[in-house]
Amino acid sequence: MQIHHTIESLRSARAQAGRVAFVPTMGNLHEGHIALMRQARAHADCVIASIFVNRLQFGAGEDFDHYPRTFAADCEKLEAAGVAHLFAPDEQVMYPQPQRYHVEPAPAQVSILEGEFRPGHFRGVATVVMKLLNIVQPDVALFGKKDYQQLMVLSNMVREMAMPVEVLPGDTVRADDGLALSSRNGYLSAEERRRAPLLHRLLCRIRDAVRSGDHDLLKLETEAMAELEAAGWQPDYIAVRRRADLQPPVHLDDALVVLAAARLGKTRLIDNLEI
Ligand code: PAJ
Repeated sequence: MQIHHTIESLRSARAQAGRVAFVPTMGNLHEGHIALMRQARAHADCVIASIFVNRLQFGAGEDFDHYPRTFAADCEKLEAAGVAHLFAPDEQVMYPQPQRYHVEPAPAQVSILEGEFRPGHFRGVATVVMKLLNIVQPDVALFGKKDYQQLMVLSNMVREMAMPVEVLPGDTVRADDGLALSSRNGYLSAEERRRAPLLHRLLCRIRDAVRSGDHDLLKLETEAMAELEAAGWQPDYIAVRRRADLQPPVHLDDALVVLAAARLGKTRLIDNLEI
């Protein structure tokens, strides 16, 4: 695997490659990221990954300074997964001056769910992903469903800006007990880690209830929020939404997804399940 720290170096490698699949990450790689790399290999001759912890998408008081940075271990995993090129810019390369041009996602899509609790987050994500896609110019880019709203925002950005790249979703990879893999799981104490699968269990319960004909969504959401609180969590939201735009469903036959975010101790976890 070749490691590129500059845009010029990455661009000249990209120019030699044929069909390219790209997987952007913030590093501290786990099996969820690696599954995306493997999926990418099936779609292209050459897989390019990136590792960049993007300050723009972290709010004040969020974990930018403490975000886990494990570059050497990440490189070994990418190499083993058959990634040909890693773009690993530092902040001077991505933001040599404070970024003055930003991608502003549609308010209707970022004032809800994660956007409500992390104002400016998706603007930072959309801006860095637009920039990374302009640098790498891949044929395909892969994003995980674990970050369901991020996937929607980025798919819409690519479509509405007519960017010449195909966005592909990757399924969420979970631990055996159901907890979605996440770099932030490392913040959990051993005791919190044992309790963490409750979030996924509640999502499964809502999914199963809706599938078997219970359409009192407000009751299902409220009960699950109360159960999290009773178990010592601080939930931000649990919401059944339309998959297409993450707005509240209006028709019984809408394709649905249930999404949740909750804090367990100091760690904020998100998860979702398609219904
Ligand atoms: P990061 O959290 O490192 O995630 C990189 C990619 O891995 C994202 O597409 C994310 O959805 C996916 N991913 C994370 N956990 C996963 C899991 N358990 N199963 C499957 N896929 C998973 O998301 C970001 O970085 C950033 O916002 C980024 C898009 C790189 C822009 O900075």
